Amino acid sequence: MKTINPIAAEHLPALLRRMPKAELHMHIEGSLEPEMMFALAQRNGLDLPYPDVASVRRAYVFGNLQEFLDIYHAGTLVLRTEQDFYDMAWAYLQRAAADNVVHAEIFFDSQTHTAHGVSTDVVINGLHRACVDAQAVLGIRAALILCFLRHLSEREAFEALEQALPLRDKLLGIGLASSERGHPPEKFASVFAKARSLGFRLVAHAGEEGPPAYIWSALDVLKVERIDHGVRAMEDAALVARLREQRIPLTVCPFSNVKLRVFPALDKHNIGQILNFGLLATINSDDPAYFGGYINDNFTQTFAALGLTSAHAYQLAQNSFSASFAETSTKRLYQNRLDEVFETFQ
Ligand code: ADE
Ligand code: ZN
Repeated sequence: MKTINPIAAEHLPALLRRMPKAELHMHIEGSLEPEMMFALAQRNGLDLPYPDVASVRRAYVFGNLQEFLDIYHAGTLVLRTEQDFYDMAWAYLQRAAADNVVHAEIFFDSQTHTAHGVSTDVVINGLHRACVDAQAVLGIRAALILCFLRHLSEREAFEALEQALPLRDKLLGIGLASSERGHPPEKFASVFAKARSLGFRLVAHAGEEGPPAYIWSALDVLKVERIDHGVRAMEDAALVARLREQRIPLTVCPFSNVKLRVFPALDKHNIGQILNFGLLATINSDDPAYFGGYINDNFTQTFAALGLTSAHAYQLAQNSFSASFAETSTKRLYQNRLDEVFETFQ
């Protein structure tokens, strides 16, 4: 393993901001800032149940995942046209590029929008066009992962998959999101098997609020390649050993975990332990407009709260590239950029 020079705590935020990184766990609907929510509502002739931006932000206090999902869902009602999806994704990609994100794998929930009468192709075409433009204009590579909503049935997930298939070339993978408790991964065994046979890369949220058993079944039944969140894996020693031995990535989202009360505060988060156990963990923003910050905010505040070091920073950035679905040659390119920043940083 590469030796990383220790860097004084006061210089760590600059290093964390400057280092290239991949973001692998971010729901594009969760990047919809209240300002854009109002702009889109106006453009589409819709009313919001809030008088202004400040009152929207004041509503962002959550007791658990479900309370968040209810508010998040209300925000998605302003998304109607392909241009709306483009504008939302473009805003995120600009923000991510400013944080030195060089590679983003972006989640979206097509079922949320089809339930509002917006067709899957409107959603995917808008998001995909922003990804193409981002590579050309911002130099950031971005790809899309369609997440099934686990509170709905497997039959509905099959319908969502079918509706997306004509746009197969614009998608990288399939994920599983929404209300975790009571909706174990195995509920979606057949539709994930189908997606796998079609060549989609597979991920699933597990072990956010749900028990370690959900991580086991995401791996063994759904055969996912990454676990989104997975912080509750630390309750199960055999699972920790497996994640380490098989180098299964966990896409951890510290601000999200605190806002949704998985941990009482950032200084009680277990990301330091996860890394020190040698697991392939990454730091991500999940729903940055709702949880108080983008990826670099997650990095800098988590490092400050837990006293993490430059060696952790290097490990996290390297993990983000290893855990990504980029081509091997692209990963090598990212790794070289990372090494260059660490070698020249002072
Ligand atoms: N959808 C958006 N954010 C989510 C989260 N943190 N967990 C599950 N589903 C989500
Ligand atoms: Zn998530």
